[in-house]
Amino acid sequence: MTGGGEKEQAQAVRTMFGAIAAKYDFLNHLLSGNIDRSWRARSVREVEKRINTARPRILDVGCGTGDLALSFSRAGPVVGCDFCQPMLAIGREKIARARVPHPVDLLEGDALCLPFSDAVFDAVVSAFVLRNLANMEKGLREMGRVLRPGGTLGILDFAMPKMLVMGTLYRSLGFTRVEFHHFTGGIAVLHVASKER
Ligand SMILES: C[S@@+](CC[C@H](N)C(=O)[O-])C[C@H]1O[C@@H](n2cnc3c(N)ncnc32)[C@H](O)[C@@H]1O
Repeated sequence: MTGGGEKEQAQAVRTMFGAIAAKYDFLNHLLSGNIDRSWRARSVREVEKRINTARPRILDVGCGTGDLALSFSRAGPVVGCDFCQPMLAIGREKIARARVPHPVDLLEGDALCLPFSDAVFDAVVSAFVLRNLANMEKGLREMGRVLRPGGTLGILDFAMPKMLVMGTLYRSLGFTRVEFHHFTGGIAVLHVASKER
């Protein structure tokens, strides 16, 4: 159940991304000088190192316009999930134009209450979403719930002071082999962890 404050925060985030959806990709690549593309590519490589199943099922939480989901489609079929329809609509157009090695499906869903059964994904990934969640711990718990035991979690975000205590949070949520990979002098950070078997 999402609390009152959480509901308002979630609504504000959804409205904000709905308003900027049409310009999101342009701004993203412009403001980062296109470095965000290399961060996503490196994230795929790091997560792939831990995936030990053929054709892994991958979930991209807060997929937005689908860039991370598209990058991960080289590894296996991807489901992207986001609660902002205008972002998803742009993502679906991009996917329809792209040549994808594996299918990519985008659907509406809340990261704090993911519309999936337990332990159905081999990898759960997310980029630039954690900071937007009304309840970060609840979001990570949900990602862990839908990940199969032994599966891989990959979270990419801008570095923030909270990261200093994230290792403890991951371990108290039942993740092991927690690693932090710093990109571009520490501007962005990728968290990789495995769900306990
Ligand atoms: C900064 S964008 C990142 C989009 C994409 N992952 C990327 O790398 O470009 C953040 C996305 O998270 C989504 N988001 C934020 N909170 C969410 C939640 N509780 N459930 C689902 N999506 C959420 C927003 O709608 C937005 O599309």
